[in-house]
Amino acid sequence: MKVLVFGRGGQLALAMRDQGAAAGHDVVCLGRESLSIADAAAVAAAVRTHAPDLIVNAAAYTAVDKAESDAQEAFAVNRDGTRHIAAAARDADIPFIHVSTDYVFDGGGDRPWREDDATGPLGVYGASKLAGEQAMADLGPARNAILRTSWVFSPYGANFVRTMLRLGADRPELRVVADQRGRPTAAHDIADAILLMAPCVADGRARGIFHFGGEGPTTWHAFAQAVFDSAARHGRPVPVVHPITTADYPTPARRPANSVLACDRYLALPGAILPDWHVGLDRAVDALLAAG
Ligand SMILES: NC(=O)c1ccc[n+]([C@@H]2O[C@H](COP(=O)([O-])OP(=O)(O)OC[C@H]3O[C@@H](n4cnc5c(N)ncnc54)[C@H](OP(=O)(O)O)[C@@H]3O)[C@@H](O)[C@H]2O)c1
Repeated sequence: MKVLVFGRGGQLALAMRDQGAAAGHDVVCLGRESLSIADAAAVAAAVRTHAPDLIVNAAAYTAVDKAESDAQEAFAVNRDGTRHIAAAARDADIPFIHVSTDYVFDGGGDRPWREDDATGPLGVYGASKLAGEQAMADLGPARNAILRTSWVFSPYGANFVRTMLRLGADRPELRVVADQRGRPTAAHDIADAILLMAPCVADGRARGIFHFGGEGPTTWHAFAQAVFDSAARHGRPVPVVHPITTADYPTPARRPANSVLACDRYLALPGAILPDWHVGLDRAVDALLAAG
């Protein structure tokens, strides 16, 4: 299968490259240096040129705090860019899988979020991602689906695991938020989920929104401890991780307290499982520490 991925240097784009190649697919990743997804004509031309069997959007404005003062750019990428890709895919009748976020929810309550629960983003990033989902819906029926995921980590790019390893290398004590819950999710597992969904999106068995995340919801505090336990396999020191509250760690954008996604709809797809995020964590830690 020929897969066209919008995005090239981000976590998910690189994981799509890895997992797509491992599964024998021909994966073409287009980065911002050659094409901005905010440019409708460039997106349409790329779809015509590559004529893929599957299109994946791994490009996004993901700087959650910066988005608070950069709404125009966040919406240009996350709303307009998504619409441009979805429109080009629909016009060419090519299956399209878009990736969205737990940040479309307000984080209230303590039960996992279902796909049809009311949205209520707390910040500009979540609002711009939600607007991208709505832009896809507004285009009408097409062979496309949205995979919402959360707390993405990988050996690539900026992410929580990399940050913890850097801080843990020279600090004996750390303070990490313990009152936000979610599903850590390895980017490589998202790539596998996208490849698993692809035939179902192509033949109409999968339409609309699906939630996907690592098995075993947790807190950032417990996730940090798991990072250090994993790094200890390589002889790295284990710092003391003190639990703090969200109020102790103010950020420009508010974060949802309960980010846990209910993934039953995804799990009903043939062959679908929720991978234990600890497995992906060990792989990411191994790769990050090997790279120095
Ligand atoms: N990271 C998370 O924790 C998380 C959680 C939930 C959902 N998600 C979603 O998962 C998806 C993948 O996220 P990720 O972690 O892989 O993000 P990432 O590592 O930040 O990668 C995003 C990529 O998009 C590129 N990009 C930004 N604007 C672009 C434009 N106008 N045209 C083309 N490319 C552009 C970026 O390029 P530059 O490097 O040049 O900026 C970057 O390579 C996104 O849809 C995100 O919203 C992420």
